[in-house]
Amino acid sequence: MKVTVVGAGNVGATVANVLAHKDIVNEVVLLDIKGDFAKGKALDSWQQAPIDYYSTTLTGTDDYKKSANSDIVVITAGIPRKPGMSRDDLISTNAKIVVSVTKSIMKHSKNPIFIIVSNPLDVMSYACFKASGLPSSRVFGMAGILDTARYRAFLATALKVSPKDIQAVLMGGHGDTMVPLPRYTTVAGIPVTEMIDKKKLNAIVERTKKGGGELVKLMGTSAWYAPGAAAAQMVESIVKNENRIFPCCVHLSGQYGIRNMYLGVPVQLGKDGITKIIKLDLNKSETKLLQKSADAVKGVITTFKKMKLV
Ligand code: LAC
Repeated sequence: MKVTVVGAGNVGATVANVLAHKDIVNEVVLLDIKGDFAKGKALDSWQQAPIDYYSTTLTGTDDYKKSANSDIVVITAGIPRKPGMSRDDLISTNAKIVVSVTKSIMKHSKNPIFIIVSNPLDVMSYACFKASGLPSSRVFGMAGILDTARYRAFLATALKVSPKDIQAVLMGGHGDTMVPLPRYTTVAGIPVTEMIDKKKLNAIVERTKKGGGELVKLMGTSAWYAPGAAAAQMVESIVKNENRIFPCCVHLSGQYGIRNMYLGVPVQLGKDGITKIIKLDLNKSETKLLQKSADAVKGVITTFKKMKLV
């Protein structure tokens, strides 16, 4: 198994490093237009192998030929947010990058699976789908695992329990309209509403929606540890054909009444990519929130379409 990670910035380098630690693929190629930077990051990660015991080889490059015959490609390329920016503000720069990365990858790999991490995530996943010509089951974005992890981490802190015991579903776009779902949140099987009062839970839901922005404010750039680990977890489910259930940003063709766009919903991930889109029985207010999120993403898709890149 060969995985190429495009973009050797903080997120890309973390994906490569976490993936190597899992020791589940033969080869990780870290590709970046700043070739020496990717080489340095990959070499540093490879020199960690004798200490942390993994055999996955890591190489860095600026040459797309080295990505040839990749099974999975993770796209992290593009500019990150600065304080005061929304993810949508990145579209004019990142759409061009993601479309050109996708086309360059497709010249050297016939049937890869793409995992998109670049922002604005939902629209960049759509862009990669259009530019690659691949079936939608092989093109999807990482956002839901990260956003759910933030929600779970906040709950773990508030409840003083292990984050391991918190399970949750979160849907919608990777933006402030995302929809954490308390009705589908449990603490070791116990409905979360039995463990925390409504006011505190609402505050956690609101903090989750702005979770990425909170980090941008703190660091002056966007996050990388949790985003990188989340993308690596998706790769793992594919490589091991685990069919794990994760919220991922996928192409919808009528599910939840939404079509012709990408949005976060729970899916199963196996060796061929998305093996199933899970249909939850949302209530009226949840459906309304999801629709609102879809509308926000649709607006950015319109901007992307006007750019006429695909
Ligand atoms: C975040 C970026 C990766 O949410 O979108 O931190």
